[in-house]
Amino acid sequence: MDTFTFTLQTGTVDVLFTRSITIPAVPPSGGIYVADSNTVELLKTAEGFDPSVPLVVVPAGEEHKTLANIELILEKAIESALARDSLFIGFGGGVITDMTAFAASLYMRGAKLELVATSLLAMADAAVGGKTGVDFKKYKNCIGSFYPAQRIHMPIEALLTLPKNEYRSGLAEVLKTALLYAPKLYQIMCDKKEEILNRDPELLTEIVKRCVQAKARVVERDLYEKGERMYLNLGHTFGHALESVAGFGAIAHGDAVAWGISRALELGCRLHITDSDYRNEVITVLSEYGWETTAIHSVLHSTMKADQIPVALLHAMKNDKKKRDGVVRFVLQREINSTLVTEVPDEEVLAVLR
Ligand code: GLY
Repeated sequence: MDTFTFTLQTGTVDVLFTRSITIPAVPPSGGIYVADSNTVELLKTAEGFDPSVPLVVVPAGEEHKTLANIELILEKAIESALARDSLFIGFGGGVITDMTAFAASLYMRGAKLELVATSLLAMADAAVGGKTGVDFKKYKNCIGSFYPAQRIHMPIEALLTLPKNEYRSGLAEVLKTALLYAPKLYQIMCDKKEEILNRDPELLTEIVKRCVQAKARVVERDLYEKGERMYLNLGHTFGHALESVAGFGAIAHGDAVAWGISRALELGCRLHITDSDYRNEVITVLSEYGWETTAIHSVLHSTMKADQIPVALLHAMKNDKKKRDGVVRFVLQREINSTLVTEVPDEEVLAVLR
């Protein structure tokens, strides 16, 4: 086992990289497992699984990232007479890690929390850095808190069990991290596409470690997203709008983010911020991994007429929680490892959506 520790304003976080899937033991004050319908079988066969620990299983999928499911987790915790020093253990991808952490942050004003990340998206991004929450009405992650886990488990073998589309969705967050902070990781994604798509465990371990280290450095400096943490939203303003307009669950989060990165690069070029060779190169990489980079994503084809799509996306962006003072800010890049946040006139945004 390999451990990486980083320190936030709220305390230290240990990240445990393991090959096999192991569940932490619950303390004498008790605990609760939270899994979804996809991960529950994996949980039950994991080393250290204790069938006497209360278990909540929510249906898998972004459309179930709801306050109703938070209530379900809290209800089970209360029924099981858990205390503030009891341990919430989230076992799953980003939806489960976000929801378990949110429930733990609310229970008795903050219970103990460990996450076992089973998807690439959760390992590379969602489980690290303390963002918790649920979607609310049409708005992604609109209700939530900052509540870092004390320990995050990253069992690389779990990645071998993922459906292909979910694995690819996670790769989008890896690419995002690479573009923002890690030229070496970007090079690995360019040079070792086949090995990555074939899920070589050694390579996956290296990729996940590089992502965790890059993200940890950012959240150590800016846990509450007052400044540079906003960079981690590269591709997300467009991506969240796409998820919202398509309907949660219609498109995988990472696929929406990958498309969003292509839109952010186009927008940056229109504004003479982004180097056009850089844009072309990254768009080629996005296409090679199978992501859509056209102005209108095909998931929207059946939802509305093409000429209504740009305005619908802009409207969703304006309702996204990431705006401040009612203004949408876009994360744009000059080139790799060179990022900025800026407001953009509506007409420019609409121009890269049609
Ligand atoms: N997923 C973006 C962040 O953690 O800030």
